Amino acid sequence: MIFNLNGQFVDPEQAKLACNDSAALFGDSLFETLKAQDGHIQFLDQHLDRLELAARLLHFPCDRPTLRSALLETAGRLCDPIIRLRLTLSRGPMTGLGLPPAESGHFFINAAPYQAPNAAERQQGIACVFAPNRRVNPLSHLPQLKRGNYADCLYAADYARRKGAREALFKTDDGQVLEGATSNLFILKNGILLTPPAGELVLAGIIRRQVLLAAQGLELPSKERSISVDDLWAADEAFLTNSLFDLLPIAKIEGRTQNHGPLTAHLTAAVAQSAAAKYDTDRKNS
Ligand SMILES: Cc1ncc(COP(=O)(O)O)c(C=O)c1O
Repeated sequence: MIFNLNGQFVDPEQAKLACNDSAALFGDSLFETLKAQDGHIQFLDQHLDRLELAARLLHFPCDRPTLRSALLETAGRLCDPIIRLRLTLSRGPMTGLGLPPAESGHFFINAAPYQAPNAAERQQGIACVFAPNRRVNPLSHLPQLKRGNYADCLYAADYARRKGAREALFKTDDGQVLEGATSNLFILKNGILLTPPAGELVLAGIIRRQVLLAAQGLELPSKERSISVDDLWAADEAFLTNSLFDLLPIAKIEGRTQNHGPLTAHLTAAVAQSAAAKYDTDRKNS
């Protein structure tokens, strides 16, 4: 793994934050997880747009051009085919509860090779369980921003691993299925692509947006509406999305087999195409 701390590449021993850093004291940080493939960072500006919005909402220092070039430089340092980049913004050292001045903010980037899902996982799909914990109440702005205090997702993801599953799905008390601990959820039902609305309890995922755009391109009707557990069980297809694995079909939930179909593969190809088109535009504009 390599570390870029405020634009400087540092050895792992130097990749440290102060004990009174807002990220350490309160989990008060913002982050983005991005994928670089063959030297290109996928949907880079969409990630920076989301980060910039969160930073504005929560008064975090956010110097976009500096972050953009630091991400590109960091991705360029590793020659692995696929790289996971985690960008984190912190406010810096805090003494009381008063937010420190913008200039004391930090950013750091951790970058390491990423093992993408193999062909079997992409074809057969993955196993999921329902998360035992709930996402917090909608009045809290936590779910729709990628914040460092990620405890509810961490707990759910760990629970899934202990159960031998790849992902845990968050449910509400009234049986709505929201999203995965690290991913968004889609189902196909009667020829319509459905995904829960982003905002209250669901992160506005970058790949989620790309799937909705790809569906338009394929003239596949789609709707952002709540999905019940029964909708999920009865779905013709179900898949998850995130910036690292793009799309992955769901094969089993709580040990029960899910229906399978060709659409997830079609949408995976369409999203890969739009990512490639974006690279070409970026390259022409740079
Ligand atoms: C809770 C949650 N939902 C959804 C996603 C997918 O978002 P994206 O497509 O932007 O990676 C993530 C990504 O890590 C996540 O943590």
